[in-house]
Amino acid sequence: MFNLILFGPPGSGKGTQSEKLIAKYGFKHLSTGDLLRHEIANETPLGMEAKNFMDKGQLVPDEVVIGMISSALDNSADAKGFLFDGFPRTAAQAEALDKLLELKKTNIALMLALEVTEEELVKRLLKRGQTSGRSDDTNEKVIRARITEYQNKTTAVGDYYKTFDKVSIVKGEGTVDGIFNSLSEIIDKRM
Ligand code: AP5
Ligand code: MG
Repeated sequence: MFNLILFGPPGSGKGTQSEKLIAKYGFKHLSTGDLLRHEIANETPLGMEAKNFMDKGQLVPDEVVIGMISSALDNSADAKGFLFDGFPRTAAQAEALDKLLELKKTNIALMLALEVTEEELVKRLLKRGQTSGRSDDTNEKVIRARITEYQNKTTAVGDYYKTFDKVSIVKGEGTVDGIFNSLSEIIDKRM
């Protein structure tokens, strides 16, 4: 199994690049943001709780997302590798993920970290907010709150995997295809 984390701040292109990577390599895509939006669309109690945090640009509590990932891993026992997008987002989530993977006798092989300037992130998300229907994209204050959450709580996850020498940094600005080629080259070397 080859498991990787696509890491980066809100709007850095994780979802965009994930789509291309799963098409090329056949990874099972696990995006906690997508899973949470699915719960909201189905008006489940979990979704309704999560919405309160997401609409403010705050992280959803660790136990909620760790539980979701644990079920998703159990439901895809035959996957040849997982691509984690938007997870883990706190040091506690990273440690929980490592333990869940250990139970399955596997681990994280690689973290690909997309780097994009804050002004470019805000520009991209405001633009997407005009058409996406995502309530957390329409208000610049909420977008900036998401970036602040990332700086305060999520950058620690990159530091955690750096201690295991698993992180490759990739410039997340430029054409979608150019960034995809850079990501693919790194994966091909490590696979
Ligand atoms: P989540 O859904 O994960 O959103 P996010 O991390 O805020 O990031 P986005 O999905 O908005 O951006 P992205 O990096 O995927 O970029 P994309 O490809 O879409 O999380 C949403 C919320 O859920 C969180 O705020 C939190 O509340 C909660 N949550 C989720 N996971 C959690 C967890 N683990 N723990 C706790 N809470 C959690 O691209 C963005 C835009 O840019 C698009 O319009 C795209 O077309 C455009 N674009 C992409 N690439 C380029 C490029 N190269 N040039 C120009 N534009 C580009
Ligand atoms: Mg995304």
